[in-house]
Amino acid sequence: MKYYIKTFGCQMNVYDSGRIAGILKTLGYTEASALPEADLVIFNTCHIREKAAEKVFSDLGRLNIIREERAARGLDTVIGVTGCVVQAEDEQIWKRAPFVDFALGPLTYHRLPEVLAKISRKKNQFIIDTDFPAEDKFDFLPENYASGGCSFLAVQEGCNNFCTYCVVPYTRGAEYSRPVEAVLEEARRLIKSGSVELNLLGQNVNSYHGEDASGHERNLAYLIRRLAEIDGLQRIRYTTSYPADMDDELISCYRDVPQLMPFLHLPVQSGSDRILKAMNRRHTSGDYLKIIDKLKAANPNIGMSSDFIVGFPGETDTDFRATLDIVNKVQYIQAFSFKYSPRPGTPAALMPGQIPEKIKKERLEILQNLLFDYQLHFNNQCVGKTMPVLFEQKGRHKGQFIGRTPYMQNLHAELPADCLNHIINIKVTGATTNSLTGKGV
Ligand code: 5AD
Ligand code: SF4
Repeated sequence: MKYYIKTFGCQMNVYDSGRIAGILKTLGYTEASALPEADLVIFNTCHIREKAAEKVFSDLGRLNIIREERAARGLDTVIGVTGCVVQAEDEQIWKRAPFVDFALGPLTYHRLPEVLAKISRKKNQFIIDTDFPAEDKFDFLPENYASGGCSFLAVQEGCNNFCTYCVVPYTRGAEYSRPVEAVLEEARRLIKSGSVELNLLGQNVNSYHGEDASGHERNLAYLIRRLAEIDGLQRIRYTTSYPADMDDELISCYRDVPQLMPFLHLPVQSGSDRILKAMNRRHTSGDYLKIIDKLKAANPNIGMSSDFIVGFPGETDTDFRATLDIVNKVQYIQAFSFKYSPRPGTPAALMPGQIPEKIKKERLEILQNLLFDYQLHFNNQCVGKTMPVLFEQKGRHKGQFIGRTPYMQNLHAELPADCLNHIINIKVTGATTNSLTGKGV
């Protein structure tokens, strides 16, 4: 039996897909090289913005054609949907895509073995599980091994912040931190099986407060310091952080922990205090800038990244200009920016002052041009410098490989094949907005 998993959305979904693949392998499945060869297809879905959710349904429509073509050849295809669309849409999934066999929320995918057993006993039923279960799914998942030099490691899940535009607190549930020892054990296994970089994941990762072996709550700074003691771990990152939870202990890690990469994704969302308040973010633009000052004091070479939303309900030209101002002050080296998209069930979807699409589009273009300018400026500044690069995949041309610099820039270089999953010093020779090129030194 062969499986194919298609992942939509964030890095947490990439991690979850890896864990789902782990479950399937223990059940004897192997990975299909292409979707039409798969006996079991799982779409691991994202609901963060309307576009992401709609894409899932249009891809499911295409998948149904493949299912029918396989049926004409006498082949059965089991179709499953997992992730945040399941949690948000619930039974609606089945109404919009009646050929789906099962749907599991982000906190119930560890129940996949029983679901597949039920389906094999009785075809043509729809099984859905959108519980927020009392049991910890991580206790039920098979051991996790590295699939490359860089691995994701979920340390925290869910969110209690309830930003007024965001579905995450409803789809991923309340905040939960994995115990320190469970994280360290998974880290040791990933490192032993070949990872040199760990990216600690959580929807609100810097609010981490997992219990240690003696039952004390420990923060993310503690976890990072413990991880840094593990032999063989050369790089540590974490994402995504909430500005109000950026405490001094965590900031001090940028001074003291050499494995912690000098790059931080810290979403500000808007530069306008009025909009930040309407978003229910617990920071002002001033608070945010103070955090950046402290980070730069801990490590002057730190590079910042952020998420932005333009066209939040009630956003005026003045509010939007405040967003451009903060970009000019922080000079982000990378960023993601989005048009506000109303999500059913969130408070902002019902707020007055919804912004017309045309204005959202104009503002996004202006913001992105500014962000790209800073990104290109930073990339250009890297030319001539030597950087340690972790090579993760083959490039398009023969002999070419793609890796990541400490600042998460993609770097292309021609190297021997054994460079994969290793950190190699590279002299940067060229830069564009989206990537660097370089040579081994
Ligand atoms: N509309 C637009 N962007 C959103 N994000 C989250 N919810 C919405 C929404 N309703 C963005 C935020 C968040 C990123 C992951 O997605 O910027 O940080
Ligand atoms: Fe969503 Fe992040 Fe706000 Fe939590 S902190 S509600 S995940 S945007």
